[in-house]
Amino acid sequence: MYAQMVKTDAARVRSLDEMEPQERAFQERIDAGQKIEPKEWMPEGYRKTLVRQISQHAHSEIVGQLPEGNWITRAPTLERKAILLAKVQDEAGHGLYLYCAAETLGISRDQMYEQLHSGKAKYSSIFNYPTLTWADIGAIGWLVDGAAIMNQVPLQRCSYGPYARAMVRICKEESFHQRQGYDALMRMVKGTPAQKAMVQDALNRWWWPSLMMFGPSDDASVHSAQSMAWKIKQNSNDELRQKFVDQTVPQAKYLGLTIPDPDLKWNEEKGGHDFGEPDWEEFFNVIAGNGPCNAERLDARKKAWNDGAWFRDGLTAHAEKAADRRAAAKIAAE
Ligand code: 3HC
Repeated sequence: MYAQMVKTDAARVRSLDEMEPQERAFQERIDAGQKIEPKEWMPEGYRKTLVRQISQHAHSEIVGQLPEGNWITRAPTLERKAILLAKVQDEAGHGLYLYCAAETLGISRDQMYEQLHSGKAKYSSIFNYPTLTWADIGAIGWLVDGAAIMNQVPLQRCSYGPYARAMVRICKEESFHQRQGYDALMRMVKGTPAQKAMVQDALNRWWWPSLMMFGPSDDASVHSAQSMAWKIKQNSNDELRQKFVDQTVPQAKYLGLTIPDPDLKWNEEKGGHDFGEPDWEEFFNVIAGNGPCNAERLDARKKAWNDGAWFRDGLTAHAEKAADRRAAAKIAAE
């Protein structure tokens, strides 16, 4: 019922016959599997969809540093600390590639930050949950990065060239992130009963929010049909969620953990698991800004932006002086 309430402006995907010649030629290129590059003509809706998705994705990488960064000083060993530091730095790099990809569509970095700070742009719902124990860091690697990879591998084939190319490198790094998370949990489940209980508790809290990362169910997804017609998305939200569940259930079993879903069971006929429905009311509440950590996350990003103002001003002043010096040298040489 919630699903029906939110899907209000789902655009019907137009057929080739209904399109003007320029748009039809564009769609035919997409259908033929060609990549679209920045300076080429594209429908305004295609550009807007990409700006929305890529900038939200970039913001997710940057905001996603916060729950993990929270544990850098408390990592249990030097090795775990070095791994976590590298992972959090990788996320910053992913954000930068993605901001650059979005900039090729005519939006500036400052505009994107403004949209994040004002609450206009979204970032992944998952980062609005708190990291309470060290096991949460392992669970984020295993489940959150695992879900991110499931969603992002198909994005390497996205029709927009700069986004597709950015995703190739990002996916390589995300698979290291997933492996290190699983490895950390593997160590813990072989530890004391208290450590194993901590891992189970982390799974209990992160399972459902991880399933929500794939977005609302297909019947409530406003953008999926058009994004799939444009080959920005290759799969629907529910398809990827199903694949994630099927991949993750045996991994949980190997760790000796129980997935907190009484409806989870193998369905021989469909060759996949049946599983319960995420709490969509909670999901929509979180993406509307009312999750447990939304305010904290945005405040941290706004503080970082304000604290960095002196540095940005310094860089701008330096660039202006350097340009003046170059101009003066050129005049002197003439
Ligand atoms: N969190 C926040 N908002 C979400 C969401 C989520 N998990 N899932 C959907 N939404 C929002 C959509 O952005 C849209 O809102 P908008 O119209 O204001 O933009 C609305 O809910 C309806 O959803 P749709 O299914 O119609 O939207 P999409 O077709 O855009 O699909 C998506 C949503 C699957 C998240 C898609 O945008 C996508 O694949 N994005 C790229 C991947 C991405 O952003 N990943 C972030 C994951 S975290 C990460 O990568 C960090 C890593 O380090 C772990």
